[in-house]
Amino acid sequence: MRKPLIAANWKMYKTPEQTVAFFTAFLPLVAGHHRDSIAIFPSATSLPAAVKVAHGSNAAVGCQNMHWLDEGAYTGETSAPMVTAVGCTYILIGHSERRQYCGETDEIVNRKLHTALKHKLIPLVCVGETDAEREAGHTEQVLRRQLEQGLLNVSHEQAGPMVLAYEPVWAIGTGKTATPQVAAEAHLFIRDEVARLLGRSFASNLRILYGGSVKPENASVLMNEPEIDGALVGGASLDPQSFAKIVKYAAT
Ligand code: PGA
Repeated sequence: MRKPLIAANWKMYKTPEQTVAFFTAFLPLVAGHHRDSIAIFPSATSLPAAVKVAHGSNAAVGCQNMHWLDEGAYTGETSAPMVTAVGCTYILIGHSERRQYCGETDEIVNRKLHTALKHKLIPLVCVGETDAEREAGHTEQVLRRQLEQGLLNVSHEQAGPMVLAYEPVWAIGTGKTATPQVAAEAHLFIRDEVARLLGRSFASNLRILYGGSVKPENASVLMNEPEIDGALVGGASLDPQSFAKIVKYAAT
């Protein structure tokens, strides 16, 4: 059985004060909720405040990005030892906004994945095609390349805690959600590719989240699709009530 993970990607939103206000309102709403794992990815400057306020709760804290090297002359960067030192347990890797705006390639994703696993961070690796790639019929080709190159030289023993997120770029922040059928088809393809790369038993236990315009209104129908093992939520995770409703989606 794959325990679902519901994750909040806050992107470049919320100061430390706003972060504390969110957790103060959110944690009581999900107290005692253990059906799903919960992880929240605030911006880097809000991480210490988030870790402190979430301490002892059922919500884990993750960082949205890090460099692949442990230290060095890389102005503006944050390393895995820094991320773990503030108490983060998760790291987001390869989000499409970083691929699109910050030049994150499959090779960089791969380096960061190796670093995350070395430092015992749980990597949440994002893959997904753009609108143009889907229209051109290249969805599977793109996903295959992102997985083959992103997971290069990672063994199934090392990859243990890794989580994947399928995030079609055309569904992110657009209000256009993939139907459960479209998502399930992509998830099945991803699981088969991972089975080819890391073995069937690893792939069967791997959690593949769906991301892209997940909201309280559509969380249940998506989450009840057996291939979908959780959600990566952007916009709708910024409000405590909204995110709590997503975490507590109705199982049918
Ligand atoms: P969205 O973002 O929920 O606002 O579409 C999802 C994401 O970027 O992870």
